[in-house]
Amino acid sequence: MGATSTPVCRLVVLISGRGSNMQTIVDTVRAQALPAEICAVIANKADAAGLAWAREQGIPVQAVPHRDYATREAFDAALAVAIDACQPDYVLLAGFMRVLTPGFVEHFNGKLINIHPSLLPAFPGLHTHQQALAMGVQWHGCTLHFVTPVLDHGPIIAQGMVPVLSGDTPDDLAERVLQVEHCLYANVVRWLAEGLVSLDAMQRVQVRGVASRSFVLTPQGVEPSQR
Ligand code: GAR
Repeated sequence: MGATSTPVCRLVVLISGRGSNMQTIVDTVRAQALPAEICAVIANKADAAGLAWAREQGIPVQAVPHRDYATREAFDAALAVAIDACQPDYVLLAGFMRVLTPGFVEHFNGKLINIHPSLLPAFPGLHTHQQALAMGVQWHGCTLHFVTPVLDHGPIIAQGMVPVLSGDTPDDLAERVLQVEHCLYANVVRWLAEGLVSLDAMQRVQVRGVASRSFVLTPQGVEPSQR
C-alpha cells in the first residue's frame, strides 16, 4: 500500500482592490506549506492592484469586470462559471466589494467565506469604521464568516477585536483592524486546509481541536484572546 497523502484544499480568492488579505492567504499557504492550493485569484476590476501582485507570484489570475454585465445576475453567473472551472473547496472573499445574489450564494453554499471589518452583527454594510466611531463603541474589530444570502451575515468562524482609542479617525481604526484581519485569515486558512472546520446541526461553526476562535490586538501584537 502506498502512503496516503492529505487531500489538497482548493482555494479561490476573490478581491476588488489592494488585496492585502489575499496576500496573507497566499503567504500563509506557502510559509506553512499547508495542504492547499490557491487555484485562482479573481477580481471584479481588471485594474485591481492585488491581481498584479498575484500574477507576479505565479498564481492564475482572472478579471471578471462587473461593468461588463448589464445585471447583477449576469455578473454573478459569469463569476460562478470562472470559479466553477477551478473546482474549489472554498471561495474566500478578501476585500470583495460586491453584493452577491441569493442564487450565487446558494450555488456555493457552505463554501463561501467572507471577511468583514466589524464585529458582526454590529455594523454590516459599508463605512464600518465611521459607524463604530459614530456609535462610540470602545471595541471594534473584524469577523470571518460563512456567507448566507443576507448581507454580512452567517455562521461566524473567527472574530478579532481592537480597542477604539480617543482621537481615532476611521483610517486609524481601519489600519488597526487590518492587522487583526490578517491574523484571522492566516489562522482560518490553516483550519480550512487541515479540514478542521464544520457546521453543527444549529449551523454554528465547529473547529476541531481549536479552543479559541477570538483574537485581540495588544501592544505586543495580535494574540488569541484565550489560550
Ligand atoms: C478589508 O478591510 C476588508 O475587511 C474589507 O475591505 C478591505 C480590503 O482590504 N472588506 C469589506 O469591507 C467587505 N464588505 P484588502 O484588499 O487589503 O484585503
